[in-house]
Amino acid sequence: MNLAELYGGMGKHSWKILDAIFRNLWDYEYVPVKLISFHSNIGEEKVKNILRHLSDLRVVQNKRTEYEGSTFTFLGLSLYSLYRLVKKGHIEAIGKIMGEGKESAVFNCFSEKYGECVVKFHKVGHTSFKKVKEKRDYGDLHFSVLAIRSAKREYRALKKLQGLAVPVVYAWEGNAVLMELIDAKELFRVRVENPDEVLNMILDEVGRFYRRGVVHGDLSQYNVLVSSDGVWIIDFPQSIDVGEEGWEEILKRDVRNIVTYFNRAYRMEKDINSAINRILQE
Ligand SMILES: Nc1ncnc2c1ncn2[C@@H]1O[C@H](COP(=O)(O)OP(=O)(O)O)[C@@H](O)[C@H]1O
Ligand SMILES: [Mg+2]
Repeated sequence: MNLAELYGGMGKHSWKILDAIFRNLWDYEYVPVKLISFHSNIGEEKVKNILRHLSDLRVVQNKRTEYEGSTFTFLGLSLYSLYRLVKKGHIEAIGKIMGEGKESAVFNCFSEKYGECVVKFHKVGHTSFKKVKEKRDYGDLHFSVLAIRSAKREYRALKKLQGLAVPVVYAWEGNAVLMELIDAKELFRVRVENPDEVLNMILDEVGRFYRRGVVHGDLSQYNVLVSSDGVWIIDFPQSIDVGEEGWEEILKRDVRNIVTYFNRAYRMEKDINSAINRILQE
């Protein structure tokens, strides 16, 4: 995924067309060409030509059944979200890709305002109970809507947790979350010398999250970063608020996951239930 190069090659009309798709994606999975033409103020034939070109670049996917329409691919939604971050003056340019997984693509970037940061582009949506209900009420939630919601959820959780051991978060646009670059390694890649202390630092942090009303929802050795400066917890799209359907079970699962990892990897015998009780009773 070469976003920087693609970004540089995009013309003014292409941005207007992507903008028109974005504005309508809550109402349509495939936004009708007529509507794109109307919102972008570009003639229908020209819109079709540009959409063909954007489809060759894998930025959009077009369909011709029932009506002619267009939708973002993951690449296209990310490109457009990047455009918004730049337009709003958050970042100047995007750098190298740091990693791409099933759920996200993470890029290095530089910002005059914030210094070195990362942009995380969300790929999937996480269906919580509330979303399943929403789906019933409002019809199909397609890829773009879900990825945007996932980014929003991560942004919201990080906002609530600022000041704790999480990245400083700067902005959310589309499926992109802009945050501080943490110079540390994932827990599963390192062998820590003081596992007892590191596990307690993580559990203390989970307790602080809880007291701010947030449960991580996907806590594991993959979503904890460690360095000699301390620990950070990342990756919050699955987070839920304390009080939301199932929060207590999810908190317990988080604690169980991380304690089990330490017990196995470092041959420790930390008791899961007392770790949970300590968090809930503080
Ligand atoms: N703020 C950050 N600073 C440094 N590295 C990060 C940051 N956010 C994410 N990463 C890196 O990108 C990877 C994927 O990010 P993560 O938020 O865990 O998303 P995913 O849902 O794809 O697991 C992380 O495992 C980490 O290596
Ligand atoms: Mg992760």
